Amino acid sequence: MSSATSSSASPRGLEGVVAASTRISHVFGEEGRLVYQGYEISELAGKVTYEEVCYLLWHGKLPNASELGQFNQQMRAQRTLPAAARATVRALPNDADPMDVLRTVISAAGVGLGIAGTPTYEQAVALTARFPTAIAMFARQREGKEPVEPRADLGHAANYLYMLTGTAPEDRHTQGLDTYLVLLADHGMNASTFTARVIASTESDLASCVVGAIGALKGPLHGGAPSLVLDMLDQIGDAANIKPWVDNALDHKQKLMGFGHRVYKTTDPRAEILREMARQASTPEFFALAQGTEEYALKELHRRKPDQRLYTNVEFYSASVLHSVGLARDLFPSTFAASRVAGWTAHVLEQLQGNRLIRPQSEYIGPQGLKFVPVAQR
Ligand code: ACO
Repeated sequence: MSSATSSSASPRGLEGVVAASTRISHVFGEEGRLVYQGYEISELAGKVTYEEVCYLLWHGKLPNASELGQFNQQMRAQRTLPAAARATVRALPNDADPMDVLRTVISAAGVGLGIAGTPTYEQAVALTARFPTAIAMFARQREGKEPVEPRADLGHAANYLYMLTGTAPEDRHTQGLDTYLVLLADHGMNASTFTARVIASTESDLASCVVGAIGALKGPLHGGAPSLVLDMLDQIGDAANIKPWVDNALDHKQKLMGFGHRVYKTTDPRAEILREMARQASTPEFFALAQGTEEYALKELHRRKPDQRLYTNVEFYSASVLHSVGLARDLFPSTFAASRVAGWTAHVLEQLQGNRLIRPQSEYIGPQGLKFVPVAQR
């Protein structure tokens, strides 16, 4: 027997496999904790800006006031899209999926920035600064509107909302989005971060790592779920329909969007924080529907699948928060990407310290020894 067939199978979905050593973040799934560079997420949320978290992920420490001032200037100076990226947005159809737009435009931005060779910190700053600009330009274009140029006096979250609407956002909307961006910026060895690290390990360029990560994030099992949560709540419609809708979905073996997680075996700490933000930001009717759905869904999931330890994940209340700050629901995944790009780029830079090509094996389960038969005789 060949060595390929004798290798033992890995756990399905590589569950529990440690794929890298990292200082950037860690998910303590049993305890429901998320740590960024030593800080519990509950220690940071609501107290730091997204820019401070970017600095933390890239530098391993929170900036002091003067470092933050310089860093903010550096980010703000990089917000404008290169001409190649702007031309790319203009060439895309208005009905394109915003994640496809983002993937394409960031690729063009990589060309426009001349991103090549070994990834650098400066490239990480430039790409991260440009995500909101690309999303907002497309969002306005499909409504027949001209792009709004970034405003250097606004922070990352406020400027994103400003570029979408052309008006300065309300403080509560800026705070809601900023906290969302802080909470989603990194999350251990999730699928898109792993993708970015695999690409980095081949010594490819940073734009390629980020474009691959966007592709991995797009799927509903990763970052594509929050708009599906809203679709679910729309279909449920009112409190009286929660039980029949959830029962019917589970009877038909459908997954409930916003529940379950590969690593968390208790409530996702980000969901706890977002639940409180959603309570403040949503209408009372909408929040009551979301919370009622959460409570009944958890009860039924625990009753039907007691061994699975299924809890609310980050996507469930992300949907409510992003909806309440005024984002169109199909922009939710790209807004998730606009946060996670900080984590992706931090991991790429970390991967390159003492890099070794990530190249696992597969278990061969196909036939062997087949004899070639010419096409006319098959
Ligand atoms: N609703 C109903 N049942 C569920 C759910 C759910 N949301 N999640 C898991 N299960 C059940 C599965 O049906 C399966 O049951 P079975 O063994 O009786 O068939 C069992 O729990 C294990 O499910 P898997 O899909 O194997 O779990 P895995 O760890 O691979 O997946 C995932 C985790 C993808 C998040 C899953 O829970 C899911 O699909 N959730 C819904 C989509 C979602 O919310 N995605 C966002 C994830 S958060 C993020 O990435 C930022």
